[in-house]
Amino acid sequence: MADLMEKIVSLSKRRGFVFPSSEIYGGFGSCYDFGPLGVEMKNNIKKVWWDEMLKKQNDIVGFDAAILMSPKVWKASGHLTAGFADELVECKKCHKRFRLDEIKKPSGCPDCGGALTKPKKFNLMMKTFVGPVEDEAAATYLRAETCQGIYTNFKNVLQSMRMKIPFGIAQIGKAFRNEITPKDFIYRTREFEQMEMQWFCEPKTGPKLFDYWKKQRINWYLNLGISKKNLRAKEVPKNELPHYAKRAIDIEYRFPFGWQEIEGIHNRGDWDLSNHSKHSGEDLKYEGYFPYIIETSVGVDRSLFAFLCDAYTEVKGGRTKTTKSAKELEVLLKLDKSLAPIKAAVLPLVKNKAEIVKKAKQVYQILKPHFMTQYDEVGSIGRRYRRLDEIGCVFAITIDFDSLKNDDVTVRDRNTMKQKRVKIKDLIECLRKQL
Ligand code: GAP
Repeated sequence: MADLMEKIVSLSKRRGFVFPSSEIYGGFGSCYDFGPLGVEMKNNIKKVWWDEMLKKQNDIVGFDAAILMSPKVWKASGHLTAGFADELVECKKCHKRFRLDEIKKPSGCPDCGGALTKPKKFNLMMKTFVGPVEDEAAATYLRAETCQGIYTNFKNVLQSMRMKIPFGIAQIGKAFRNEITPKDFIYRTREFEQMEMQWFCEPKTGPKLFDYWKKQRINWYLNLGISKKNLRAKEVPKNELPHYAKRAIDIEYRFPFGWQEIEGIHNRGDWDLSNHSKHSGEDLKYEGYFPYIIETSVGVDRSLFAFLCDAYTEVKGGRTKTTKSAKELEVLLKLDKSLAPIKAAVLPLVKNKAEIVKKAKQVYQILKPHFMTQYDEVGSIGRRYRRLDEIGCVFAITIDFDSLKNDDVTVRDRNTMKQKRVKIKDLIECLRKQL
């Protein structure tokens, strides 16, 4: 689907997943805001990941470090030196800037053909000032990866939680990079959220654990419904490794604009703990050695984008041939139940029958504390089903004339469109079992 990108961007805006930041002022440097459905979906992704790390896997504890840290952290981590910089060229004619690794023929400007400047290193850290004086002594940086706050707290966690190697620390939080070429909707932005897990282990066990985590992480996506044909793991060549990594693979998703990384698995060796030991003077060894770190690092926003692309389905001619829309194109968002922002919607069959509306509102109030639920009485029932399919709502619950007699409802399953009658008193249990 060549125009899938446009469709996802339009659906995201129209249905309240993602809006451009500061839109009424003309937008702002590729920042995005997550709308009512976007924030639900983001929260769901984070919850599924957190549960995976802290409940399904063993020996992992959670963490939440401050975004602002001492600038010494970034000196020690290598982010302030050449390690964390992109090479940038500028067009002498139109003055547009490009990442050197992104232009196919570095001889001319991809936009206007103008001559390009020599490549220049451009550091990606976002600088800010702490306190009232804006001088170098007050300067620090917004974190470019969440994990550094974990490394500086390695000893604190080890001691307070009485951990023994091997063990992991997981964290979800915002990260910032002054990207030269933010692009492709929420794929590459300057502010984004990461879900990172750092696994501390004996150096010799590193390679085996790298393979273990690679497999676990690929399975995570497959279990959440990403199609196998759209997912692959790519070994990062030695000359392209991040400055901290001994080995890296990118888990890539086939986006509408091509295969691109959604998650990195890194063997960071002892780079971080040994450098922080050296720079801070604090001995971060464990039983006389620096543990190796195997890291899994995924963007919340980027994975949300991949989940949306993968779930987006169009049904030509409509899903049911009985509705008036039979000739229309219907959109079905086949999101995994755990990720779908809205789990249930309550629909009175008609809105001009007071008893039906009253009952529907009662059912809505019953479900609302338990599941993300919507109430919708506007338009024909077919139209309402289509609106719900488009946002991936898992169950549509209709209150009809029989509901008044029997105290029951019909529950329509989004994927199969099958309907079954369920007593109102059993409804919570019935949905809970399936969700
Ligand atoms: N701690 C390791 C680390 O940060 P990375 O490969 O630079 O590794 C990991 O980033 C993940 O963070 C990426 O796979 C991506 O999902 C997300 N990410 C990185 N830069 C991003 C950006 N500018 N916009 C959105 N997501 C980004």
